[in-house]
Amino acid sequence: MNDTIEYNKACNLDDIWEGEMDVFEVKGQDVLIVHAPGGEVRAYDPICPHQYHPLIEGEFEGCILTCSAHLWQFDVLSGDGVNPEGVALKAYPVKVEDNAVLVSMPTP
Ligand code: FES
Repeated sequence: MNDTIEYNKACNLDDIWEGEMDVFEVKGQDVLIVHAPGGEVRAYDPICPHQYHPLIEGEFEGCILTCSAHLWQFDVLSGDGVNPEGVALKAYPVKVEDNAVLVSMPTP
C-alpha cells in the first residue's frame, strides 16, 4: 500500500492575489484555489454542495465565500458553512512550495 500523497501543480501563487480565488485544472479535474487574506491558501471542489452551482461565480469578501445561487456562505479557511451551518466545502490537501500551489486531487 502506498501512503504517499501525490501533489500536482495547480498554479503559481502569484497567479492569484491575496483575497482572490480562481479555478484551475489539475489532472483533468477543476479545483477552486482560494488565496485568503493573510496569505493562507486553500483548495476546494469548485461546486457548491447545495445545488452544484459553480462557486467561482460567487462573491469572495474577507474570509467569506458566498455562492451566487442561493447565498450560502462558507468560511474559506475552514471550508465550513457559516450560513447555514452544518455544511462544508469539499477540501483537498494543498501546499505551497517555491511559489507553486500544489494540490492533491481525489481519484475520480
Ligand atoms: Fe450554492 Fe444553492 S447552489 S447556495
